Amino acid sequence: MSIKVTLTKGTISSIKSGDLFLLISEEQFNSIQKSPKTDYEKEIASKIVKSQFSGKSNQKISLPLKKVRLHLFGLGKEKEITSEVIRKAAGSVANYSLAIKITDPIVCADISKLSASQTCEAITDGIHLGAYRFDKYKSKDKDSIKLKSLSLLTNSKDKGLSSSIKYSNITCDSANYVRDLQMENADVATPLYLEKRARELAKKHKLKIKVLGEKELTKLGAGLILAVARGSKYPPRMIFLEYNGNPKSKDKTAILGKGITFDSGGLNLKPTKYIETMREDMSGAAVVLGTIKAAAELKLKKNVIAVVSSAENAIGTEAYKPGDVFKSFSGKTVEIGNTDAEGRLVLADALAYTEKNYKPSRMIDVATLTGSVIVALGDYVAGMYGTDDKTMTSLFNSGEKTHERVWKLPLYKEYIDEVKSNIADYNNMNYGRNAGSIMGAAFLSKFVDKTPWTHIDIAGTSWIESGRKYYAPGATGFGVRLLINYLKNN
Ligand code: BES
Ligand code: MN
Ligand code: ZN
Repeated sequence: MSIKVTLTKGTISSIKSGDLFLLISEEQFNSIQKSPKTDYEKEIASKIVKSQFSGKSNQKISLPLKKVRLHLFGLGKEKEITSEVIRKAAGSVANYSLAIKITDPIVCADISKLSASQTCEAITDGIHLGAYRFDKYKSKDKDSIKLKSLSLLTNSKDKGLSSSIKYSNITCDSANYVRDLQMENADVATPLYLEKRARELAKKHKLKIKVLGEKELTKLGAGLILAVARGSKYPPRMIFLEYNGNPKSKDKTAILGKGITFDSGGLNLKPTKYIETMREDMSGAAVVLGTIKAAAELKLKKNVIAVVSSAENAIGTEAYKPGDVFKSFSGKTVEIGNTDAEGRLVLADALAYTEKNYKPSRMIDVATLTGSVIVALGDYVAGMYGTDDKTMTSLFNSGEKTHERVWKLPLYKEYIDEVKSNIADYNNMNYGRNAGSIMGAAFLSKFVDKTPWTHIDIAGTSWIESGRKYYAPGATGFGVRLLINYLKNN
């Protein structure tokens, strides 16, 4: 159940009951202390001493007043306030509300630094994302509560506020939909389950859907995804969903997601400390489903194809073996240098098939492709590669706006030339661990012919070990807000 967000016209003086949150800068707090004007300000000035609260970020204080409970959250210095600062403060409001059992917070959205619509959007983002918990498998805790509603209090006359709120509702609910998929058990969220969820979306939003199963993939000669899937009892699926928001235009963007529903590493088995979170190796697939869902709900005037390439990388007597060679859908053959470099295999077949059969204007793939991208960028920024500088520049800008940031890394010819084998056309891992994330991208590049292409390695950003302001530990849904911002603006 998602949180209902409403707009309330007025100032804090018009609030007569409930829990009222003020996100406040150091300067604003100072001026209230020096010369309080309203009754509220007089109470704040008389009841708070500066040693307790001064508006610094991370500070908070609660004041039980006569009718309302007032909660002040610091934003830091005025000049440092951005949408992200507000998103984070709102995330703290969500966490605090859950902790002290406030189900219906009222948050004042008049923060002079930003426009009312930017502020409303950022607060709504922070509340939706910050209040998310994956508690499906917890025995029902009588004491735990959910956030029910958020009232945004503002005096602004801006007519665009409700559309900013709606945008945040849809994009964040979709991000949370992605997080549910990422967090779900690997034996629940199988390739077939992703198909089921895709069919639900198709039905609900009247999207065209095509699903390739084992039989079709065999007939097509998609030998790479079939090789990866061989060791698993769950058959692979390649899923295509089409949203045509602008039927008059021929322009269409294909977004492709890696959907490894569990990555054991295969016969090159992953060790302890690397295997525990591998049910999230379908994050890219979840992101493309979440993105097309949001695009349809927002009725974006864009044409989008979401492609899920899904298999389980399991271990067993049927599993594909290092050293063996398989033929891809594109016709090129691949020697398996390492069965743990499976993501590039399922994506290679998906990229080649999508380019040939859908002829998109551009392809963007999203994948938890390499541990190396975590070594390079940690879990704050995703790695980006490709042949499509225009799209990469736009994605960079969308990343700055949404704080789902991407950073371009090099894909020079020297790297691409290293993707070679003595016995096949290519090898999926033959360059050691050096430049690991780049080599993943270099391998993929061999399966894209002419279509402008971007690859985003989200292995680091898709999941965080410890919680942050608006992220509980675990899945982040990283990518939906980025891609929707990109699609909307391009
Ligand atoms: N799914 C992993 C990458 C990954 C690591 C995702 C950590 C999320 C968190 C991927 O399939 C993988 O195993 N990559 C290998 C590639 C190597 C064998 C060339 C890696 O990065 O170690
Ligand atoms: Mn792997
Ligand atoms: Zn993987």
